[in-house]
Amino acid sequence: MTSTARPSGRNQTSRVVRHQMYIGGRFEDALSGGTLEVYDPATEGVIATCPAGDAKDVDRAVRAATSAFYGGWRKVTAQERGRVLLRLADRIRARRGELAELETRNSGKPIVEAEYDMDDTATCFEYYGGLATKINGEVLPVPAEAMAFALREPVGVAGQIIPWNYPLLMAAWKIAPALAAGCTVVLKPAEQTPLSILALAQDFEAVGIPPGVVNIVTGDGPGAGAPLVVHPDVRKIAFTGSAEVGKLIMRAAADQLKRVSLELGGKSPNIFFNDADFENAVDGALFGTFINQGEVCSAGSRVLVQRDIYRKFIDAAAAKAKTIKLGNGLDRETKMGPLVSSEQRDRVVRYLEIGRGEGKLAVGGGIPKALDWGWYVEPTIFYDVDNSATIAQEEIFGPVMSVIPFTDEAEAIRIANATPYGLAAAVWTRDIFKAFRVVKALEAGIVWVNHMQPTFVEAPWGGYKASGFGRELGHWAVEEYLETKQVFINLDEKPIGWY
Ligand code: NAI
Ligand code: MG
Repeated sequence: MTSTARPSGRNQTSRVVRHQMYIGGRFEDALSGGTLEVYDPATEGVIATCPAGDAKDVDRAVRAATSAFYGGWRKVTAQERGRVLLRLADRIRARRGELAELETRNSGKPIVEAEYDMDDTATCFEYYGGLATKINGEVLPVPAEAMAFALREPVGVAGQIIPWNYPLLMAAWKIAPALAAGCTVVLKPAEQTPLSILALAQDFEAVGIPPGVVNIVTGDGPGAGAPLVVHPDVRKIAFTGSAEVGKLIMRAAADQLKRVSLELGGKSPNIFFNDADFENAVDGALFGTFINQGEVCSAGSRVLVQRDIYRKFIDAAAAKAKTIKLGNGLDRETKMGPLVSSEQRDRVVRYLEIGRGEGKLAVGGGIPKALDWGWYVEPTIFYDVDNSATIAQEEIFGPVMSVIPFTDEAEAIRIANATPYGLAAAVWTRDIFKAFRVVKALEAGIVWVNHMQPTFVEAPWGGYKASGFGRELGHWAVEEYLETKQVFINLDEKPIGWY
């Protein structure tokens, strides 16, 4: 299946742009001089290079972030931090088209989805621009003749490591709350998709982000991510990516007892009861699994369908999946672009091969023959999948749905929770009693009712169980970047007299 009749060699059609990373307010090469190639997944051509940062570059960036933290950012007022974030949001809105196009060119996603991402990115900076002035401590009613406070203070330099599926949005989810809290940042984008955040960094100085407050170090995981995790001056690591790397990070951070927050994806159930609105349900199953080519941590890739509608559901979903238009994301008609890299395409194709032995194929199952170039995979639906199957248990991160039948509510809940993960879940029914019973029974950090995937900056995002811990978005994200200091002020002028 991997070998299709494709032209051989490289499809190099565009100029290769040489990018630099952003350290201490300047665009810089790696000290080693090394570079990494950056691809357009739709053409398989190299579109750019970025520096292959290593431990030395990470150290430079952490030093810049440390001196920015102690040298001034800590003392910048919350109002000014908020204004900086609001100005950055304005820049993103002004550059929406350009940034969206860059995101599509580098990640493969349809341009319409990239434009939504830019809107969400701007909204994220706006939200935390507003929140910066609402980070309050507390006054505590201690019994002594005293006053006691809980002060909230920034943890210091935050190390942030993000994936390639929502490149600029994931950067915003990490940078915005950290700056609102008063931290400085060293962020490492995914090696596949550094371009949009480097483009945005061109505006950092103009919006008033002082040098060193946000540093972007490009490079791969072992080269640049790992040294960031163990750098002694980095006080906190925020990570989004694979469970495998999440475990490595947690182990590495343990030596320094460094605080960590992890968002590790999942295998989220999307549950359809007999009484769900049928058309919406079919759409919701496809959207829940195939949005962003299925490269979504919260993908509803385990579709649980009640038996009365099971057969009809599979037929309707397969018929509709056939109409999904694959192609270059820059084409406005495109509904599904290529996967981000040849590695990711190959990983997904391996799951397709496993799936053929584990379920029945309703639609898709391979690489589309019609497209000469690009790391495409057909939208694929397997059905009669047992929940213990590999394709029902492992995160595939591609357009692959496993449909599993169930008989009643109790069985649906049992199957839904039978996974090591617990990021998201959705339930479709018109019965409000049943909907809320299921909501309460699901072990997941995000639960949708009669929808799947809408995400809002106001609401918490993160997982139960092996999907990680800590929460992004809302006021929860700011907590991840704050320390709590207890202050006790004695008001009794002769308090001691003990010895
Ligand atoms: P990954 O977890 O290796 O990469 C995510 C980020 O971690 C990247 O910035 C990468 O450079 C960095 N990284 C890798 N190794 C590191 C290390 N030893 N120390 C510090 N940082 C490191 O994900 P990958 O390999 O790109 O994709 C593999 C699978 O991971 C996907 O098929 C998918 O199942 C899952 N994944 C989940 C994501 C999510 O949003 N939860 C996002 C991306 C991938
Ligand atoms: Mg990896």
